[in-house]
Amino acid sequence: MEQSHYHIVVLISGGGTNLQALIDASKSSNYKISAVISNKPGAFGLQRAKRSNIPSLTIDHQSFDSRGNFDQALGDAIEEIGPNLIVLAGFMRVLGTDFVNRFEGRVLNIHPSLLPKYPGINTHQRAIDAGDKEHGVSVHFVTADLDGGPVIVQESVPILKNDTREALAARVLEKEHVVYPKVVSWFASGRLHMEAGKVILDHEEISPTGVFIHP
Ligand code: GAR
Repeated sequence: MEQSHYHIVVLISGGGTNLQALIDASKSSNYKISAVISNKPGAFGLQRAKRSNIPSLTIDHQSFDSRGNFDQALGDAIEEIGPNLIVLAGFMRVLGTDFVNRFEGRVLNIHPSLLPKYPGINTHQRAIDAGDKEHGVSVHFVTADLDGGPVIVQESVPILKNDTREALAARVLEKEHVVYPKVVSWFASGRLHMEAGKVILDHEEISPTGVFIHP
């Protein structure tokens, strides 16, 4: 029997450990993954989808002559699937304004930094190089502002003496895997939405840096 009617599509570009965490959590949560879409052929996350009998497809950005055409094709594919929510999980393409407006308030992203610090790439090394004492993860709504949409939650980890980028990334990933399924389930239960660019959780506007959650 179908247990959940809240459907998400997960967009990936790579290994898909966050996808795996979402798959694992979905078995006892209130959402279902309808499809996985990768912009990279051969992304390992596609195999994770297959292993769990989740339909998947690749829309290779390199086979489009413009960013706009890729976004259009991606949006059309998503619309055909018809999910309630689009979940970016290690999806490394920037989505243009048209895409973002088309699905306004229905796109979440996970980013490995304590936003607004370190948008973009190479966040772990940048945090180490800056001499920061802590680093972490943010989940936010996607807007036209790159990694700049309203933050829903953050979770921090310490940066240790002599930390390496790899060790720090692994420490952050561990948090990502807990935080992301939790936020998706909030969304699926109707507790969370975006209103006039602000995050509303349980009918209250939350702080601009999001809620710190401690699993
Ligand atoms: C994760 O750390 C995710 O936060 C990051 O890519 C990694 C993907 O890992 N996303 C971004 O940097 C987006 N700007 P995964 O494929 O194992 O989930």
